[in-house]
Amino acid sequence: MTALQPRCFSGVQPTGNLHLGNYLGAVSRWVPMQDVMPTIFCVVDMHAITAGFPNATELTNATREVTAAFIAAGIDPKRSVIFNQSQVKEHAELAWIFNCVARMGWLNRMTQFKDKAGKNSENASVGLFAYPNLMAADILAYRATHVPVGDDQKQHLELTRDIAQKFNNDFAERILELGLGSPNPVPSPESPEQIYLPLPEPMIAGPAPRVMSLRDGTKKMSKSDPSDLSRINLADDADMIAKKIKKAKTDPEPLPGELEGLKGRPEAENLVAIYAALAGKTKDAIIAEFGGQPFSVFKPALAELAVERLAPLNAEMARLMADPAEIDAVLKNGAEQASAIAEPVLRDMRKIIGFLDVR
Ligand code: TYM
Repeated sequence: MTALQPRCFSGVQPTGNLHLGNYLGAVSRWVPMQDVMPTIFCVVDMHAITAGFPNATELTNATREVTAAFIAAGIDPKRSVIFNQSQVKEHAELAWIFNCVARMGWLNRMTQFKDKAGKNSENASVGLFAYPNLMAADILAYRATHVPVGDDQKQHLELTRDIAQKFNNDFAERILELGLGSPNPVPSPESPEQIYLPLPEPMIAGPAPRVMSLRDGTKKMSKSDPSDLSRINLADDADMIAKKIKKAKTDPEPLPGELEGLKGRPEAENLVAIYAALAGKTKDAIIAEFGGQPFSVFKPALAELAVERLAPLNAEMARLMADPAEIDAVLKNGAEQASAIAEPVLRDMRKIIGFLDVR
């Protein structure tokens, strides 16, 4: 019986360009985790086929590009495990097990499925519906305890916790009998004292957990928005970044003198949050600095900061992309390390379930 070890896991889909939301809400926040606990970062290529198969060459390229972005952002392949999901078969195996743990009712409540499937849910793939089960498998194949993500993944992480809890409860006796339990850090009347799967902690924090569209402050910045002006891509060059910030929608008022004054001004609030996250400061500090200033002053300052922070990242991504073999070597090494962690977990889980092991 051992205590569950802290471990951080997170992932990004290789669909289209990474944007500022992915960077500020997730990837940039992974970097300091490397000093705190073992870290695993995944390019979730199996999730990228749930909304239709992308062009094969584009999927391959996007997988390398996201890997390059991780490394350029400061994820160190020597300290973190970096790999693409499809290379570690335990993800698919555990997702199937979780298909049999999660309830239809739980998945029916997922707002992201409703948003993505839209009115045409009859025609959505089964994979899109079961997407959160695969996400739970990503995390729990490593018995990960900490998951830094943007705000839009909150509901999926709650589902992951529900799945872990149900598995622990349903198999409580088996887990004890086999001596595979670890002390539950949060025992309660509903959950056993010995658990196999941790209930992972969603880490949704920082000044920009939900970066909004530059064209509409009420909509999330997203890869799928048809307007490229709505987002800053990590692949954008300095001129493009400055142009997009200049064209960002705002209102006619100057920035308020207090944070409260941003209420009901979604575009202004978004730009302040972006500035704060890029500067590594709080929104309060930015308001203290720019309160009372018009956007004609704030926007150029924001553009300058964004270029200063993102241009080196862009250059490093381009340098890495020029040598795909190097990227592939990182992913291969990462897949081997990831398998070495996930294989024994799945072996335990097969035992707990009672699958006859004849090999
Ligand atoms: P994905 O690829 O849509 O986004 C990757 C990460 O970026 C965050 N993010 C944002 N944060 C702030 N503002 C935004 N506008 C914004 N847009 C995206 C997301 O919250 C996410 O953290 N299902 C996940 C990928 C995934 C995963 C996992 C994550 C698969 N398995 C296991 C964590 C753990 C997704 O589609 O993220």
